Amino acid sequence: MMRIFLLTTIAALFLNCSTEKSVFITKNFSFAQEQTLRMLSAVNNQPLYPRTTAKDGSLKLTDMYDWTSGFFAGNLWYLYEYTQDENWKQNAIRWTQSLEPLKTFKDHHDLGFMMYCSYGNAYRLTKNTAYKDILIESAKSLSTRFDPKTGCIKSWNYRKSWDGKREWFYPVIIDNMMNLELLFFAYKETGNPKFRDIAITHAETTLKNHFRNDFSTYHVVNYDTITGAFQDRGTSQGYTDASTWARGQAWAIYGYTMVYRETQNPKFLNAAMSAADFYLENKNLPEDKIPYWDFDVEDKNMSPDWINKNNLSLLKRDASAAAITSSALFELSEYAQNKKQHYQQAAKTILFNLSKFYTAESGTNNNFLIKHCVGSFPHNEEIDVPLVYADYYFLEALTRYKNSECK
Ligand code: GLY
Repeated sequence: MMRIFLLTTIAALFLNCSTEKSVFITKNFSFAQEQTLRMLSAVNNQPLYPRTTAKDGSLKLTDMYDWTSGFFAGNLWYLYEYTQDENWKQNAIRWTQSLEPLKTFKDHHDLGFMMYCSYGNAYRLTKNTAYKDILIESAKSLSTRFDPKTGCIKSWNYRKSWDGKREWFYPVIIDNMMNLELLFFAYKETGNPKFRDIAITHAETTLKNHFRNDFSTYHVVNYDTITGAFQDRGTSQGYTDASTWARGQAWAIYGYTMVYRETQNPKFLNAAMSAADFYLENKNLPEDKIPYWDFDVEDKNMSPDWINKNNLSLLKRDASAAAITSSALFELSEYAQNKKQHYQQAAKTILFNLSKFYTAESGTNNNFLIKHCVGSFPHNEEIDVPLVYADYYFLEALTRYKNSECK
């Protein structure tokens, strides 16, 4: 009798858990489909890509050379993956194939984002070999920005720091970790070790120069173009040179989780876990685990020149950093044996809070999914707005949650 009761209870618990999970997933993907259908009508027939909301409240589109151009296609692929609906597939193909000219693009490092979120998902879900060839050519283009002297891929061409005070001849940003996935893909498809060597060398150099002892990250590291030596560190989108920009920390968590997946080298797992622990255990992380745009905005000892220039409260959340982190933590939980439950729980908490408190009302938010993100506070650009990449990592996190074992 007792045995039957226990078995029934366990079955009921399992059923409830599964039901709750499947209701959550269904609800969020239904909402994503409604919003994205409206977005498709809003941008129909324009060779431009949704990015955010402009200052006048209108939908802001970009050309294909912007670093965010591949995310919308990626969103369409996640909708196709979930629904298996031919209409989503045709839209995903259309928005992916328009990016083909980028395969020879060499002007900045973001080709990994642009091509792997679009063509990478396209190839993963269709196995169309034409997409594979385009990805390999893109990886070759990205590799041209690697210099063995510095041991990393140059993120941006020469520019002054955002406040004009310093010159950066070989700036590398923490975000660049994300572009390495394209190189690992090209290595696996071609067997050419050059792609893998570049990716690993970049990850090692970044581990050496972009992290503080507590595994918080600097945003920008600048190298000497002649000797390749490390020169200086700073920020472009963070609060100060010494602070930790929330999205940069999220890129580090995601980037090193992915590099561990591709290399199985424990030092990269340690970097991913330590960066994740900095985020999750940070005293400035709000209870809902959606960070302010920089972990140090409340630090009275830091006060950058631009402070209060735009008379806005500094206490704005960046839901994009949270979406990236949630997706990364679902994967990291698979590798971090002793912290599996901890990371899975944190990934779920972030995802549930995004869904409950940060998704838009249907038909609002210019038909993006997620509200309350920050592009760049110091530039007074994209403050408290939707961002297409927040939507992308939200959909990816939902997909990873769906495919994970229910807890
Ligand atoms: N990769 C640019 C950004 O995260 O804003």
